[in-house]
Amino acid sequence: MTASTPPPPPRRKLFIKTYGCQMNVYDSARMADVLAPQGFVATESPDDADMVILNTCHIREKAAEKVFSDLGRLRALKDTRRNGQDMTIAVAGCVAQAEGAEISARAPYVDILVGPQSYHRLPELVARAARKQGVVIDTDFPSEPKFDYLPTPRAEGPTAFISVQEGCDKFCTFCVVPYTRGAEYSRPAADVLREARGLVAAGVREITLLGQNVNAYHGEAPDRSTWGLGRLMRELSDIDGLARIRYTTSHPRDMDEELMAAHRDVLQLMPFLHLPVQSGSDKILAAMNRQHTRDDYRRVIDRLRNYRADLVLSSDFIVGFPDESDADFQATIDLIEEIKFAQAYSFKYSRRPGTPATAMKSQVSETIKAERLAILQTLIDHQLETFNASCVGREFDVLLTHAGRHSGQLVGRSPYLQPVYVNADKQLIGQVVKLRMTEVATYSLGAELIDAKAA
Ligand code: 5AD
Ligand code: SF4
Repeated sequence: MTASTPPPPPRRKLFIKTYGCQMNVYDSARMADVLAPQGFVATESPDDADMVILNTCHIREKAAEKVFSDLGRLRALKDTRRNGQDMTIAVAGCVAQAEGAEISARAPYVDILVGPQSYHRLPELVARAARKQGVVIDTDFPSEPKFDYLPTPRAEGPTAFISVQEGCDKFCTFCVVPYTRGAEYSRPAADVLREARGLVAAGVREITLLGQNVNAYHGEAPDRSTWGLGRLMRELSDIDGLARIRYTTSHPRDMDEELMAAHRDVLQLMPFLHLPVQSGSDKILAAMNRQHTRDDYRRVIDRLRNYRADLVLSSDFIVGFPDESDADFQATIDLIEEIKFAQAYSFKYSRRPGTPATAMKSQVSETIKAERLAILQTLIDHQLETFNASCVGREFDVLLTHAGRHSGQLVGRSPYLQPVYVNADKQLIGQVVKLRMTEVATYSLGAELIDAKAA
Protein backbone atom coordinates (compact mmCIF):
# COMPACT_ATOMS: atom_id res chain seq x y z
CA MET A 1 0.00 0.00 0.00
CA THR A 2 1.46 3.43 -0.91
CA ALA A 3 1.33 6.36 1.50
CA SER A 4 -1.38 8.05 -0.58
CA THR A 5 -3.81 5.09 -0.56
CA PRO A 6 -6.66 5.84 1.84
CA PRO A 7 -7.19 3.18 4.49
CA PRO A 8 -10.03 0.77 3.77
CA PRO A 9 -13.32 1.74 5.43
CA PRO A 10 -13.98 0.02 8.77
CA ARG A 11 -15.78 -3.32 8.50
CA ARG A 12 -19.42 -2.99 9.46
CA LYS A 13 -22.07 -5.67 9.60
CA LEU A 14 -25.23 -5.26 7.54
CA PHE A 15 -28.48 -7.16 8.01
CA ILE A 16 -31.21 -6.75 5.38
CA LYS A 17 -34.72 -8.12 5.86
CA THR A 18 -36.75 -8.37 2.67
CA TYR A 19 -40.54 -8.34 2.55
CA GLY A 20 -42.73 -8.90 -0.49
CA CYS A 21 -41.93 -9.54 -4.12
CA GLN A 22 -38.98 -10.70 -6.25
CA MET A 23 -38.28 -7.11 -7.13
CA ASN A 24 -37.57 -6.44 -3.47
CA VAL A 25 -35.28 -9.48 -3.32
CA TYR A 26 -33.41 -8.01 -6.26
CA ASP A 27 -33.32 -4.53 -4.69
CA SER A 28 -31.99 -5.90 -1.40
CA ALA A 29 -29.08 -7.56 -3.21
CA ARG A 30 -28.35 -4.27 -5.00
CA MET A 31 -28.44 -2.36 -1.67
CA ALA A 32 -25.84 -4.77 -0.29
CA ASP A 33 -23.73 -4.22 -3.45
CA VAL A 34 -23.93 -0.45 -3.21
CA LEU A 35 -22.89 -0.50 0.46
CA ALA A 36 -20.08 -3.05 0.07
CA PRO A 37 -17.41 -0.43 -0.88
CA GLN A 38 -18.24 1.33 2.43
CA GLY A 39 -17.07 -1.76 4.31
CA PHE A 40 -20.49 -3.32 4.89
CA VAL A 41 -20.56 -7.12 4.94
CA ALA A 42 -23.66 -9.25 5.28
CA THR A 43 -24.63 -10.80 8.59
CA GLU A 44 -27.31 -13.37 9.28
CA SER A 45 -29.06 -11.69 12.18
CA PRO A 46 -29.85 -8.16 13.40
CA ASP A 47 -28.34 -9.07 16.80
CA ASP A 48 -24.77 -8.23 15.81
CA ALA A 49 -25.55 -5.80 12.97
CA ASP A 50 -24.19 -2.25 12.75
CA MET A 51 -26.85 -1.44 10.23
CA VAL A 52 -30.26 -2.98 9.62
CA ILE A 53 -32.30 -2.33 6.50
CA LEU A 54 -35.96 -3.33 6.35
CA ASN A 55 -36.77 -3.49 2.65
CA THR A 56 -40.52 -3.20 2.88
CA CYS A 57 -43.69 -4.00 0.94
CA HIS A 58 -46.85 -1.92 0.90
CA ILE A 59 -49.01 -4.08 -1.31
CA ARG A 60 -51.33 -5.31 1.45
CA GLU A 61 -52.05 -4.00 4.91
CA LYS A 62 -50.58 -7.03 6.66
CA ALA A 63 -47.21 -6.62 4.97
CA ALA A 64 -47.06 -2.94 5.94
CA GLU A 65 -48.11 -3.57 9.56
CA LYS A 66 -45.42 -6.24 9.93
CA VAL A 67 -42.84 -3.51 9.39
CA PHE A 68 -44.02 -1.62 12.45
CA SER A 69 -43.91 -4.72 14.65
CA ASP A 70 -40.39 -5.54 13.40
CA LEU A 71 -39.36 -1.93 14.07
CA GLY A 72 -40.54 -2.29 17.68
CA ARG A 73 -38.21 -5.27 18.13
CA LEU A 74 -35.31 -3.42 16.51
CA ARG A 75 -35.84 -0.48 18.83
CA ALA A 76 -35.36 -2.77 21.84
CA LEU A 77 -32.15 -4.06 20.25
CA LYS A 78 -30.92 -0.57 19.45
CA ASP A 79 -31.58 0.50 23.06
CA THR A 80 -29.20 -2.17 24.30
CA ARG A 81 -26.36 -0.59 22.29
CA ARG A 82 -24.20 2.18 23.73
CA ASN A 83 -26.18 5.47 23.61
CA GLY A 84 -28.34 3.94 20.91
CA GLN A 85 -25.58 5.06 18.55
CA ASP A 86 -24.27 1.75 17.44
CA MET A 87 -27.04 0.56 15.21
CA THR A 88 -28.30 2.43 12.16
CA ILE A 89 -31.85 1.52 11.19
CA ALA A 90 -33.03 2.16 7.64
CA VAL A 91 -36.49 1.57 6.25
CA ALA A 92 -36.36 1.11 2.48
CA GLY A 93 -38.89 0.13 -0.16
CA CYS A 94 -42.55 0.86 -0.69
CA VAL A 95 -43.62 1.47 2.94
CA ALA A 96 -40.86 4.07 3.28
CA GLN A 97 -42.13 5.66 0.07
CA ALA A 98 -45.80 5.66 1.02
CA GLU A 99 -45.71 6.11 4.79
CA GLY A 100 -42.48 8.01 5.47
CA ALA A 101 -44.18 10.59 7.67
CA GLU A 102 -46.00 7.95 9.69
CA ILE A 103 -42.78 5.98 10.24
CA SER A 104 -40.95 9.10 11.48
CA ALA A 105 -43.81 9.80 13.88
CA ARG A 106 -44.34 6.25 15.14
CA ALA A 107 -40.67 5.18 15.08
CA PRO A 108 -38.45 8.24 15.63
CA TYR A 109 -35.44 5.95 16.22
CA VAL A 110 -35.38 5.14 12.48
CA ASP A 111 -32.29 6.83 11.00
CA ILE A 112 -32.90 6.57 7.27
CA LEU A 113 -35.99 6.40 5.04
CA VAL A 114 -35.24 5.57 1.43
CA GLY A 115 -37.67 4.89 -1.40
CA PRO A 116 -37.37 2.21 -4.11
CA GLN A 117 -36.04 4.64 -6.72
CA SER A 118 -33.32 6.33 -4.68
CA TYR A 119 -31.46 3.56 -2.85
CA HIS A 120 -28.39 4.03 -5.07
CA ARG A 121 -27.81 7.04 -2.80
CA LEU A 122 -27.52 4.87 0.33
CA PRO A 123 -23.78 5.50 0.92
CA GLU A 124 -24.44 9.24 1.05
CA LEU A 125 -27.53 8.74 3.25
CA VAL A 126 -25.53 6.57 5.68
CA ALA A 127 -22.84 9.25 5.88
CA ARG A 128 -25.45 11.95 6.49
CA ALA A 129 -27.17 9.84 9.17
CA ALA A 130 -23.85 9.48 11.00
CA ARG A 131 -23.46 13.27 11.14
CA LYS A 132 -26.98 14.28 11.97
CA GLN A 133 -29.60 13.83 14.65
CA GLY A 134 -33.02 12.80 13.42
CA VAL A 135 -34.10 10.97 10.34
CA VAL A 136 -32.53 11.32 6.87
CA ILE A 137 -35.17 10.98 4.17
CA ASP A 138 -34.85 10.31 0.45
CA THR A 139 -38.11 9.34 -1.19
CA ASP A 140 -37.50 11.18 -4.45
CA PHE A 141 -38.23 9.84 -7.87
CA PRO A 142 -34.86 11.04 -9.19
CA SER A 143 -34.50 11.91 -12.85
CA GLU A 144 -31.35 9.78 -13.03
CA PRO A 145 -32.22 6.08 -13.22
CA LYS A 146 -30.74 4.28 -10.22
CA PHE A 147 -29.42 1.51 -12.48
CA ASP A 148 -26.80 3.90 -13.84
CA TYR A 149 -25.34 4.19 -10.34
CA LEU A 150 -25.51 0.62 -9.11
CA PRO A 151 -22.54 -1.73 -9.29
CA THR A 152 -22.88 -4.57 -11.82
CA PRO A 153 -24.61 -7.48 -10.06
CA ARG A 154 -22.44 -10.46 -9.17
CA ALA A 155 -23.45 -14.02 -9.95
CA GLU A 156 -24.51 -16.03 -6.92
CA GLY A 157 -25.13 -19.53 -8.19
CA PRO A 158 -26.64 -20.72 -11.46
CA THR A 159 -29.78 -18.56 -11.40
CA ALA A 160 -30.09 -14.76 -11.46
CA PHE A 161 -32.61 -11.98 -11.78
CA ILE A 162 -32.22 -8.95 -14.00
CA SER A 163 -34.52 -6.04 -13.40
CA VAL A 164 -35.45 -4.75 -16.86
CA GLN A 165 -38.54 -2.70 -16.14
CA GLU A 166 -39.93 -0.87 -13.14
CA GLY A 167 -42.99 0.98 -12.09
CA CYS A 168 -46.45 0.86 -13.53
CA ASP A 169 -48.81 3.13 -15.47
CA LYS A 170 -51.82 0.81 -15.32
CA PHE A 171 -53.43 2.10 -12.11
CA CYS A 172 -55.49 -0.92 -11.17
CA THR A 173 -57.83 0.58 -8.59
CA PHE A 174 -56.66 -1.70 -5.75
CA CYS A 175 -52.92 -1.30 -6.25
CA VAL A 176 -50.29 0.94 -4.63
CA VAL A 177 -47.51 0.12 -7.09
CA PRO A 178 -48.00 3.09 -9.46
CA TYR A 179 -47.69 5.38 -6.42
CA THR A 180 -44.81 3.68 -4.62
CA ARG A 181 -42.68 2.56 -7.58
CA GLY A 182 -43.61 5.42 -9.86
CA ALA A 183 -44.06 5.59 -13.63
CA GLU A 184 -43.04 2.84 -16.00
CA TYR A 185 -39.37 2.77 -16.89
CA SER A 186 -37.54 0.33 -19.17
CA ARG A 187 -33.78 -0.08 -19.04
CA PRO A 188 -31.89 0.28 -22.33
CA ALA A 189 -31.50 -3.10 -24.04
CA ALA A 190 -27.71 -2.76 -24.29
CA ASP A 191 -27.47 -2.48 -20.47
CA VAL A 192 -29.63 -5.56 -19.99
CA LEU A 193 -27.61 -7.56 -22.52
CA ARG A 194 -24.32 -6.49 -20.95
CA GLU A 195 -25.53 -7.51 -17.51
CA ALA A 196 -26.79 -10.84 -18.85
CA ARG A 197 -23.49 -11.60 -20.64
CA GLY A 198 -21.55 -10.82 -17.47
CA LEU A 199 -23.75 -13.08 -15.36
CA VAL A 200 -23.53 -15.96 -17.85
CA ALA A 201 -19.75 -15.59 -18.04
CA ALA A 202 -19.75 -15.94 -14.24
CA GLY A 203 -21.70 -19.21 -14.38
CA VAL A 204 -25.37 -18.20 -14.47
CA ARG A 205 -27.49 -20.59 -16.56
CA GLU A 206 -30.98 -19.23 -15.94
CA ILE A 207 -32.02 -15.58 -16.03
CA THR A 208 -35.39 -14.26 -14.90
CA LEU A 209 -36.26 -10.85 -16.32
CA LEU A 210 -38.05 -8.83 -13.68
CA GLY A 211 -40.49 -5.96 -13.74
CA GLN A 212 -43.76 -4.94 -12.11
CA ASN A 213 -45.14 -4.94 -15.61
CA VAL A 214 -42.33 -6.73 -17.34
CA ASN A 215 -44.10 -7.35 -20.63
CA ALA A 216 -44.75 -3.61 -20.98
CA TYR A 217 -40.98 -3.43 -21.54
CA HIS A 218 -40.12 -0.95 -24.27
CA GLY A 219 -36.41 -0.31 -23.93
CA GLU A 220 -34.13 1.71 -26.13
CA ALA A 221 -32.40 -0.57 -28.64
CA PRO A 222 -28.74 -0.19 -29.65
CA ASP A 223 -29.93 1.36 -32.95
CA ARG A 224 -32.14 3.86 -31.06
CA SER A 225 -35.35 2.08 -32.04
CA THR A 226 -37.49 0.56 -29.29
CA TRP A 227 -37.55 -3.12 -28.43
CA GLY A 228 -40.36 -4.96 -26.74
CA LEU A 229 -39.78 -7.92 -24.44
CA GLY A 230 -40.10 -10.50 -27.24
CA ARG A 231 -37.32 -8.83 -29.19
CA LEU A 232 -35.14 -8.51 -26.10
CA MET A 233 -35.64 -12.20 -25.45
CA ARG A 234 -34.49 -13.10 -28.96
CA GLU A 235 -31.27 -11.16 -28.41
CA LEU A 236 -30.71 -12.78 -25.03
CA SER A 237 -31.14 -16.21 -26.57
CA ASP A 238 -27.96 -15.62 -28.62
CA ILE A 239 -25.83 -15.59 -25.47
CA ASP A 240 -23.79 -18.79 -25.43
CA GLY A 241 -24.25 -20.70 -22.20
CA LEU A 242 -27.57 -19.13 -21.24
CA ALA A 243 -29.76 -22.21 -20.93
CA ARG A 244 -32.99 -20.73 -19.62
CA ILE A 245 -34.99 -17.50 -19.68
CA ARG A 246 -38.06 -16.58 -17.64
CA TYR A 247 -39.93 -13.34 -17.04
CA THR A 248 -42.28 -12.05 -14.39
CA THR A 249 -44.76 -10.36 -13.73
CA SER A 250 -46.85 -9.82 -16.80
CA HIS A 251 -50.12 -8.07 -17.58
CA PRO A 252 -52.57 -9.74 -20.00
CA ARG A 253 -52.95 -6.53 -22.02
CA ASP A 254 -49.26 -6.37 -22.85
CA MET A 255 -48.91 -9.87 -24.31
CA ASP A 256 -48.09 -8.74 -27.85
CA GLU A 257 -47.65 -11.04 -30.82
CA GLU A 258 -43.85 -10.85 -30.80
CA LEU A 259 -43.72 -11.92 -27.16
CA MET A 260 -46.22 -14.71 -27.71
CA ALA A 261 -44.24 -15.93 -30.74
CA ALA A 262 -41.10 -15.94 -28.59
CA HIS A 263 -42.73 -18.76 -26.64
CA ARG A 264 -42.42 -20.83 -29.83
CA ASP A 265 -39.17 -19.48 -31.23
CA VAL A 266 -36.91 -18.86 -28.25
CA LEU A 267 -35.92 -22.34 -27.14
CA GLN A 268 -34.47 -21.11 -23.86
CA LEU A 269 -37.78 -19.53 -22.84
CA MET A 270 -39.34 -21.83 -20.25
CA PRO A 271 -42.93 -23.02 -20.82
CA PHE A 272 -44.21 -21.50 -17.59
CA LEU A 273 -45.92 -18.15 -17.34
CA HIS A 274 -47.20 -16.16 -14.38
CA LEU A 275 -50.06 -14.13 -15.82
CA PRO A 276 -52.26 -12.55 -13.15
CA VAL A 277 -55.96 -12.22 -13.96
CA GLN A 278 -57.19 -11.16 -10.47
CA SER A 279 -60.87 -11.99 -11.13
CA GLY A 280 -63.06 -13.92 -13.55
CA SER A 281 -65.95 -11.42 -13.44
CA ASP A 282 -66.15 -8.71 -16.11
CA LYS A 283 -67.95 -6.40 -13.69
CA ILE A 284 -65.13 -6.71 -11.15
CA LEU A 285 -62.37 -6.53 -13.80
CA ALA A 286 -63.87 -3.24 -14.99
CA ALA A 287 -64.11 -1.88 -11.43
CA MET A 288 -60.49 -2.93 -10.93
CA ASN A 289 -59.55 -0.98 -14.08
CA ARG A 290 -57.75 -4.05 -15.37
CA GLN A 291 -58.40 -2.96 -18.96
CA HIS A 292 -59.20 -6.50 -20.06
CA THR A 293 -62.21 -8.78 -19.88
CA ARG A 294 -62.45 -12.41 -18.95
CA ASP A 295 -62.65 -13.29 -22.66
CA ASP A 296 -59.58 -11.20 -23.46
CA TYR A 297 -57.70 -13.27 -20.90
CA ARG A 298 -59.00 -16.54 -22.35
CA ARG A 299 -58.00 -15.42 -25.84
CA VAL A 300 -54.47 -14.55 -24.73
CA ILE A 301 -54.11 -18.00 -23.17
CA ASP A 302 -55.46 -19.69 -26.32
CA ARG A 303 -53.03 -17.80 -28.52
CA LEU A 304 -50.13 -18.55 -26.22
CA ARG A 305 -51.05 -22.23 -26.21
CA ASN A 306 -51.11 -22.14 -30.02
CA TYR A 307 -47.49 -21.08 -29.92
CA ARG A 308 -46.53 -23.38 -27.09
CA ALA A 309 -48.94 -26.22 -26.41
CA ASP A 310 -47.25 -27.31 -23.19
CA LEU A 311 -47.40 -23.84 -21.60
CA VAL A 312 -48.21 -24.06 -17.90
CA LEU A 313 -49.84 -21.15 -16.13
CA SER A 314 -49.85 -19.44 -12.81
CA SER A 315 -51.88 -16.43 -11.69
CA ASP A 316 -52.81 -13.99 -8.94
CA PHE A 317 -56.34 -13.64 -7.60
CA ILE A 318 -58.01 -11.13 -5.34
CA VAL A 319 -61.21 -12.15 -3.55
CA GLY A 320 -63.63 -9.77 -1.90
CA PHE A 321 -62.97 -6.72 -4.07
CA PRO A 322 -65.70 -4.09 -3.36
CA ASP A 323 -69.12 -5.16 -4.66
CA GLU A 324 -67.98 -8.70 -5.50
CA SER A 325 -71.18 -10.80 -5.34
CA ASP A 326 -71.47 -14.56 -5.02
CA ALA A 327 -72.00 -14.68 -8.79
CA ASP A 328 -68.84 -12.62 -9.44
CA PHE A 329 -66.86 -14.93 -7.20
CA GLN A 330 -68.34 -17.96 -8.94
CA ALA A 331 -67.18 -16.48 -12.27
CA THR A 332 -63.62 -16.51 -10.90
CA ILE A 333 -63.99 -20.12 -9.79
CA ASP A 334 -65.36 -21.04 -13.24
CA LEU A 335 -62.42 -19.39 -14.96
CA ILE A 336 -59.95 -21.30 -12.76
CA GLU A 337 -61.77 -24.57 -13.53
CA GLU A 338 -61.57 -23.79 -17.22
CA ILE A 339 -57.97 -22.59 -17.56
CA LYS A 340 -56.35 -24.91 -14.99
CA PHE A 341 -53.39 -23.40 -13.21
CA ALA A 342 -50.32 -25.23 -11.96
CA GLN A 343 -50.13 -22.78 -9.07
CA ALA A 344 -51.49 -19.40 -8.01
CA TYR A 345 -51.26 -16.73 -5.36
CA SER A 346 -54.52 -15.55 -3.87
CA PHE A 347 -55.31 -12.72 -1.53
CA LYS A 348 -58.19 -11.13 0.33
CA TYR A 349 -58.72 -7.63 -0.99
CA SER A 350 -56.89 -5.20 1.28
CA ARG A 351 -57.87 -1.52 1.38
CA ARG A 352 -54.82 0.55 0.57
CA PRO A 353 -54.65 4.25 1.42
CA GLY A 354 -54.73 6.53 -1.59
CA THR A 355 -56.04 3.94 -4.05
CA PRO A 356 -59.48 4.43 -5.66
CA ALA A 357 -60.95 1.12 -4.47
CA THR A 358 -60.50 2.12 -0.83
CA ALA A 359 -63.31 4.65 -1.20
CA MET A 360 -65.66 2.35 -3.13
CA LYS A 361 -69.02 1.51 -1.60
CA SER A 362 -70.08 -2.07 -0.87
CA GLN A 363 -66.86 -3.22 0.74
CA VAL A 364 -67.05 -6.98 1.35
CA SER A 365 -66.93 -8.25 4.93
CA GLU A 366 -63.81 -9.97 6.22
CA THR A 367 -65.86 -13.11 6.95
CA ILE A 368 -66.99 -13.42 3.34
CA LYS A 369 -63.48 -12.66 2.07
CA ALA A 370 -62.10 -15.45 4.27
CA GLU A 371 -64.76 -17.92 3.08
CA ARG A 372 -64.10 -17.13 -0.57
CA LEU A 373 -60.35 -17.32 -0.14
CA ALA A 374 -60.63 -20.76 1.45
CA ILE A 375 -62.78 -22.04 -1.43
CA LEU A 376 -60.46 -20.60 -4.06
CA GLN A 377 -57.33 -21.91 -2.36
CA THR A 378 -58.80 -25.40 -2.05
CA LEU A 379 -59.42 -25.41 -5.79
CA ILE A 380 -55.95 -24.09 -6.60
CA ASP A 381 -54.32 -26.63 -4.24
CA HIS A 382 -56.24 -29.35 -6.03
CA GLN A 383 -55.02 -28.10 -9.42
CA LEU A 384 -51.44 -27.88 -8.14
CA GLU A 385 -51.60 -31.44 -6.81
CA THR A 386 -53.13 -32.70 -10.04
CA PHE A 387 -50.44 -31.00 -12.09
CA ASN A 388 -47.60 -32.25 -9.91
CA ALA A 389 -49.00 -35.79 -9.91
CA SER A 390 -49.21 -35.67 -13.73
CA CYS A 391 -45.45 -35.05 -13.82
CA VAL A 392 -44.54 -38.41 -12.24
CA GLY A 393 -43.05 -40.72 -14.87
CA ARG A 394 -42.14 -37.83 -17.18
CA GLU A 395 -38.62 -36.77 -18.11
CA PHE A 396 -37.65 -33.14 -17.58
CA ASP A 397 -34.57 -31.08 -18.14
CA VAL A 398 -33.75 -29.84 -14.65
CA LEU A 399 -31.30 -27.10 -13.77
CA LEU A 400 -29.48 -28.30 -10.65
CA THR A 401 -29.00 -25.26 -8.44
CA HIS A 402 -27.69 -26.34 -5.02
CA ALA A 403 -27.07 -29.14 -2.54
CA GLY A 404 -30.07 -30.46 -0.63
CA ARG A 405 -30.33 -31.00 3.11
CA HIS A 406 -29.59 -34.74 2.92
CA SER A 407 -26.16 -35.97 2.00
CA GLY A 408 -25.77 -36.75 -1.71
CA GLN A 409 -28.95 -34.86 -2.54
CA LEU A 410 -29.18 -32.00 -5.04
CA VAL A 411 -32.03 -29.58 -5.63
CA GLY A 412 -33.02 -28.20 -9.00
CA ARG A 413 -35.84 -26.59 -10.93
CA SER A 414 -38.07 -28.16 -13.49
CA PRO A 415 -39.06 -26.15 -16.59
CA TYR A 416 -42.28 -25.41 -14.66
CA LEU A 417 -40.40 -23.98 -11.67
CA GLN A 418 -41.13 -26.94 -9.42
CA PRO A 419 -38.36 -27.80 -6.96
CA VAL A 420 -36.91 -31.21 -7.88
CA TYR A 421 -34.85 -33.41 -5.53
CA VAL A 422 -32.38 -35.99 -6.84
CA ASN A 423 -29.41 -37.97 -5.58
CA ALA A 424 -26.52 -36.92 -7.78
CA ASP A 425 -22.92 -35.75 -7.76
CA LYS A 426 -22.26 -32.16 -6.57
CA GLN A 427 -20.26 -31.63 -9.75
CA LEU A 428 -23.57 -31.39 -11.57
CA ILE A 429 -24.62 -28.19 -9.80
CA GLY A 430 -25.05 -25.53 -12.46
CA GLN A 431 -25.90 -28.02 -15.19
CA VAL A 432 -29.14 -28.87 -16.93
CA VAL A 433 -29.65 -32.63 -16.72
CA LYS A 434 -32.37 -35.02 -17.81
CA LEU A 435 -34.24 -36.48 -14.87
CA ARG A 436 -37.14 -38.87 -14.59
CA MET A 437 -39.75 -37.73 -12.07
CA THR A 438 -40.41 -40.60 -9.67
CA GLU A 439 -42.47 -39.16 -6.84
CA VAL A 440 -44.44 -36.16 -5.74
CA ALA A 441 -44.64 -34.18 -2.52
CA THR A 442 -47.04 -31.25 -2.19
CA TYR A 443 -44.80 -28.59 -3.67
CA SER A 444 -41.90 -30.58 -5.08
CA LEU A 445 -40.91 -33.62 -7.08
CA GLY A 446 -38.45 -36.44 -6.45
CA ALA A 447 -36.46 -37.67 -9.43
CA GLU A 448 -33.73 -39.98 -10.67
CA LEU A 449 -30.90 -39.29 -13.04
CA ILE A 450 -31.22 -40.53 -16.62
CA ASP A 451 -28.33 -38.88 -18.35
CA ALA A 452 -25.69 -36.88 -16.52
CA LYS A 453 -24.51 -35.22 -19.73
CA ALA A 454 -25.42 -31.54 -19.74
CA ALA A 455 -28.45 -30.93 -21.94
N1 5AD B 1 -55.30 -6.30 -1.92
C1 5AD B 1 -55.07 -7.61 -2.15
N2 5AD B 1 -54.18 -8.06 -3.06
C2 5AD B 1 -53.51 -7.13 -3.78
N3 5AD B 1 -52.60 -7.26 -4.75
C3 5AD B 1 -52.20 -6.04 -5.14
N4 5AD B 1 -52.86 -5.09 -4.44
C4 5AD B 1 -53.70 -5.75 -3.58
C5 5AD B 1 -54.64 -5.33 -2.62
N5 5AD B 1 -54.89 -4.05 -2.38
C6 5AD B 1 -52.18 -8.56 -5.28
C7 5AD B 1 -52.51 -8.71 -6.76
C8 5AD B 1 -51.17 -8.57 -7.42
C9 5AD B 1 -50.26 -9.18 -6.37
C10 5AD B 1 -48.83 -8.82 -6.51
O1 5AD B 1 -50.78 -8.68 -5.16
O2 5AD B 1 -53.07 -9.98 -6.96
O3 5AD B 1 -51.10 -9.26 -8.66
FE1 SF4 C 1 -50.52 -2.99 -9.68
FE2 SF4 C 1 -52.15 -3.30 -11.79
FE3 SF4 C 1 -49.72 -2.18 -12.10
FE4 SF4 C 1 -49.90 -4.81 -11.57
S1 SF4 C 1 -50.70 -3.77 -13.42
S2 SF4 C 1 -48.49 -3.34 -10.61
S3 SF4 C 1 -51.67 -4.88 -10.21
S4 SF4 C 1 -51.42 -1.34 -10.94
